[in-house]
Amino acid sequence: MYSLLSHNTFGIEACAACFVEYHSESELKGLVEASLFKERPYFCIGAGSNVLFTRPYYDWTFLHSAIRGMEVTHEDADCVEVRVGSGEVWDEFVQTCVNRKWYGAENLSLIPGEVGASAVQNIGAYGAEVKDLITSVETMDADGHSRVYEVCECGYGYRTSIFKRADKKHVFILYVNFRLSKHPCFQLDYGNVRQELGTDEVTLGRVRKAIIDIRRRKLPDPSLQGNAGSFFVNPVISRTHYEALRAVYPQMPCYEVDAGHVKVPAGWLIEQAGWKGRRMGPVAVHDRQALVLVNLGDATGADVVRLADVVREAVHAKFGIEIRPEVNFL
Ligand code: EPU
Repeated sequence: MYSLLSHNTFGIEACAACFVEYHSESELKGLVEASLFKERPYFCIGAGSNVLFTRPYYDWTFLHSAIRGMEVTHEDADCVEVRVGSGEVWDEFVQTCVNRKWYGAENLSLIPGEVGASAVQNIGAYGAEVKDLITSVETMDADGHSRVYEVCECGYGYRTSIFKRADKKHVFILYVNFRLSKHPCFQLDYGNVRQELGTDEVTLGRVRKAIIDIRRRKLPDPSLQGNAGSFFVNPVISRTHYEALRAVYPQMPCYEVDAGHVKVPAGWLIEQAGWKGRRMGPVAVHDRQALVLVNLGDATGADVVRLADVVREAVHAKFGIEIRPEVNFL
């Protein structure tokens, strides 16, 4: 039995039958050839910053990529292309980009997790999404076949990709290829980013620091209080539904999606439904960002599921909107 406690930022205790880490493509190929994946079900886990263990025990093999390293594969006057191991820590990669004056990743500072998972989840924050930096994703399937997915084949959308589809869940991500710009291309129009920067000259380092400062203020640090970031995705609703609600709640924020749809912040809905900062047993809705559920200590996955259900029902009862988890329930 292998404890998964250090493999989930929610800090939930669960055990696995087996846990295997691979450090290279050839090592993974060896595991495939040894039929490791035929013995029992398996699951690829990254840093565990977007999963919720709902059971105490999994008769599964958990696989973790420890493929590290970053290699520059192309460079010209305007951009640089890099190939990064899926087991690299995402924020260390962002720090490297900032140090080398490569623009594009800075708004994604301090997002927990690893490079491989960033490409599965299409991580996003402060007006940026990783899909706009990715050029391709190098993978292997459970039969040992390698395949490179060009970015246009990855099916990227808001916090989603082809790699989340049931038939692609067992694809191992080996490397992610990114293109960064050598010229400033700052995106500062989201929320209070500009305000946080003040009147100082805008530099890569300052943008990274502003994003980190905003995140630290709003989001709980998983090393101090277990959580998995946004627990729900922001729901997309029809413009007609939004207009009807806005007649009753004139302050209701929204982001444009297309002519017929808008996205509404789930954090706002949860706060208005009265759940911000509320506790239920060993779990709570975070008091500074209602989109985040926190483990107050020794919570089980079932405790978190119970709170999530109550919050979802409260939002549905008040607004008629269904909010769906962003976190992957296992
Ligand atoms: N809001 C409230 N109450 C709350 C939280 C938010 O009223 O408790 C309102 C805010 O005032 C604002 C709006 O909701 O008007 C949006 O809030 P915020 O800028 O904090 O962003 P969010 O939509 O709640 C998303 C991402 C975050 C990301 C931020 C910043 C999703 C599911 N979440 O949150 O991502 O950091 O934008 O870009 O899209 C994550 O995925 O784990 C994550 C933290």
